[in-house]
Amino acid sequence: MCGIMGYVGPQQAAPIVLEGLRRLEYRGYDSAGLAIIEGNGITVRKAAGKIANLDAVLSNANPEGTLGIGHTRWATHGPPTDSNAHPHTNMQATFAVVHNGIIENFADLKAELEESGVEFVSQTDTEVLAHLVGQYYDGDLREAVRKAVDRAVGAYALVVMTSHEPDHIVAVRMISPLVVGFGEGEMFLASGVPALLEHTRSMMVIEDGEMVSLTADGAVVTTIGGEPIDRSPVDVEWDVEAAEKGGFDHFMLKEIHEQPEVVAETLMGRIDGDHVDLNEVGYTDEFAIDLRKIWITACGTAYHAGLVGKQLFEGLLRIPTEVVYAHELRYSDPLIEPGDLVIAISQSGETVDTLVAARLAKQLGGRLVAITNVPGSALSHEADDTIYTRAGIEISVASTKAYVAMVVVQYLLAMDLGQRRKTLSAEDQRRLGSGLAQLPGALETIIGHDDAIARVAETLVDAQDIYFIGRGLDYAVVMEGSLKLKEISYIHSEAMPAGELKHGTLALVTEGTPVVVVLTQEATYDKTISAVQEVKARGAYVIGIGYEDDDQLDRYVDEVIRIPRVEDLYAPVPAAVPLQLLAYHVARLRGLDIDQPRNLAKSVTVE
Ligand code: M6R
Repeated sequence: MCGIMGYVGPQQAAPIVLEGLRRLEYRGYDSAGLAIIEGNGITVRKAAGKIANLDAVLSNANPEGTLGIGHTRWATHGPPTDSNAHPHTNMQATFAVVHNGIIENFADLKAELEESGVEFVSQTDTEVLAHLVGQYYDGDLREAVRKAVDRAVGAYALVVMTSHEPDHIVAVRMISPLVVGFGEGEMFLASGVPALLEHTRSMMVIEDGEMVSLTADGAVVTTIGGEPIDRSPVDVEWDVEAAEKGGFDHFMLKEIHEQPEVVAETLMGRIDGDHVDLNEVGYTDEFAIDLRKIWITACGTAYHAGLVGKQLFEGLLRIPTEVVYAHELRYSDPLIEPGDLVIAISQSGETVDTLVAARLAKQLGGRLVAITNVPGSALSHEADDTIYTRAGIEISVASTKAYVAMVVVQYLLAMDLGQRRKTLSAEDQRRLGSGLAQLPGALETIIGHDDAIARVAETLVDAQDIYFIGRGLDYAVVMEGSLKLKEISYIHSEAMPAGELKHGTLALVTEGTPVVVVLTQEATYDKTISAVQEVKARGAYVIGIGYEDDDQLDRYVDEVIRIPRVEDLYAPVPAAVPLQLLAYHVARLRGLDIDQPRNLAKSVTVE
């Protein structure tokens, strides 16, 4: 989703801003631009498409100046064109703004501005802010931004510069993230930590409802209303190397390979024999004992992790659990009550749909536990308790290692609740604990079968439609496998419970239709095999994922991918990996942009 970079200091700003935007490319975008204070005015350069296009524009006409702001835009209002790219300026080009998020009342503001004679040059919601700040300016940029923001409704981050104050950047955060970087006699501003890492480790997260004012000498943070805020920068430990591909062709493959370590890391210090120690959660034993209802809310891959969670909480704890897409929860008038546990899952912790749902759940009295991968993310600020997944920075838009980590955290959470409720015996706890401890090794083994999985992928390269089936926990996993495949290979796919096929979708299965089936659940194995036979009878080409010691599977399917034997409860973790690799290799063989699939963004910061 959109990225922001700003710089003020002694160096040329354009190359620094451009490089910062490159570091944010992984978030997904479709145009880019920057504005530099050059002489007495503002020079804006922008281009639709990739940053390389902007770079080409700059190589012909590079603005010189030591203060600048830049942006990568993911189109919401108006198509990805040069004129809709940020920055946007007022009519005199004395103010320039970049903006992430959406101004919900922009149409009213635009009509009002047009009435006062303003001529708009873009279709964006952002442009209203440039004109508003310009109109409100009376010698104090902070005051002008404050007045403009007062008029705007929405979730956003806004950064403003003006030729009237050529050493000054002002930014405001309303939900969309902003981070300030502290250098020696220079200051940086970005929408994400990766953009700042090559310049500084000393950073400060700007919180919701705050304004920051930057000069080369430092930052002044206040509430938007102007109340002073006293906060010191902190040292961020992530290194630049972590944001590089580390020898793999794609971030996605690198991240798939990191999964054994990620699971080990996520478990580290949190489980000891039969005892789970989730010291991050602050709820009491009484809360756990009285718990009658669990809600899980999330989007995309995180939602699929939640589908696994539902079966854990219901199966292990016998607590009714609902999984609701975050964007649906808000409008479903949910029956969340005080005493309910609401688990919001989000890799980025920035997904606005999830943030809004989490807020609503809290307002209704639910206790909010966040499961997220990003320390200090917006979701962690909302939550009563945050459990971090420790997957490390995930660059590929297609989430892999964060998914398995989100699933693993839910095993820990279920065990923690079971421990407090005393509904799991010590023997159960021990068995569950040792099952978790086996997972990193199981993932290593599957990743070692990468070449074999790549060969199976060759059979899917030219497919038009692919169906994924499974039952119970296998159904949760195929939902994720199908999403992974479609988002990076652009092949249409659908996932469904194996028993549902014959109620309609079977009509689409003809000679050669690929069907991927996951078979790890003993309780439903035979029934799933029946579904396999039904599709085989219509000519389907079936790829089966099952345990290494399953000696029946070969009889029913055309290709077998084997995973190490684990307790069925844990199968979603190893079973997800061949599906990730399958999707990866199909997309690779189709020659696609795997890490940045078309139309998608790493974190979806608009509703
Ligand atoms: O950052 P989040 O976990 O909240 O993101 C939610 C979805 O946008 C995300 O999982 C998306 O579905 C991924 N592209 C899946 O690979």
